[in-house]
Amino acid sequence: MSILDNMTAEKSKDATAKPVVARDLARMKKKGRKIAMLTAYDFFTARLLDQIGMDGILVGDSANMVFYGEKSTLSITLDQMIYHTQAVSRAVGHALVIGDMPFMSYQTSVEEALRNAGRMIKEGRAGAVKLEGGKHISPTVARLVEIGIPVMGHIGLVPQSIHQLGAFRVQGKDDPSAEYLRQSAQALQDAGAFAIVAEMISAELAADISAELTIPTIGIGSGVGCDGQILVTNDLVGLFEDFKPKFVRRYANLAQEMRRACGEWMDDVRQRQYPGEDESYK
Ligand code: KIV
Repeated sequence: MSILDNMTAEKSKDATAKPVVARDLARMKKKGRKIAMLTAYDFFTARLLDQIGMDGILVGDSANMVFYGEKSTLSITLDQMIYHTQAVSRAVGHALVIGDMPFMSYQTSVEEALRNAGRMIKEGRAGAVKLEGGKHISPTVARLVEIGIPVMGHIGLVPQSIHQLGAFRVQGKDDPSAEYLRQSAQALQDAGAFAIVAEMISAELAADISAELTIPTIGIGSGVGCDGQILVTNDLVGLFEDFKPKFVRRYANLAQEMRRACGEWMDDVRQRQYPGEDESYK
């Protein structure tokens, strides 16, 4: 049996082979079923992830770095995020599509957050949105949930605050910051968030927070004690080569494979080996 057959069999055994909705994730946690999510920014990647039975696909603002080549996530606009979310949503029949709200699309006021998250759902066709931030953002989360927009929180290393954090480093290492993360996770759950991304939190603290919550934590660089895991797909498949955080495991080296394939084609063109007769019309 091939890997794909295995995955398809796994998917069809799965009670959630029907479209995943936000509230399903808490049920998965309760059953002890680990949740798998990856990012996508385009139709074709999203379709591949959906075909293998991914639980969730995040249209992350990491697109600004791994798609647009910027140094941070900060400058991507809401219109760009909606454009990518539309492409992903069009491809997906099973996974929950989560649209990441970009920097300054939800921080200035609750009204602004409602209007912009509404666009992510209406125009981007996302099934949920994600906001970064700790307990201070929970009133916004509560209001979004109240009007029917499922919200995923995001605590720990929050890349939209990189200028304040100073660097990409592990969060919650001293008692006050660990306590802040615990309180934030609880506040987000109380506000109605359906899950929380826990980014670069020390493994022990992330496991404790996960045990304290009924909603799942989706870890990235936060150890195996989280209820699920997420990675940036371009990191996992080796398409993004600029840097590799410690928590990334590369399962392929697609950048190298693309250079090889495109290089072979270029040589064939130059040596008149491409196109052949069978690639030409009579
Ligand atoms: O933007 C993104 O891809 C993210 C994940 C790293 C969680 O927020």
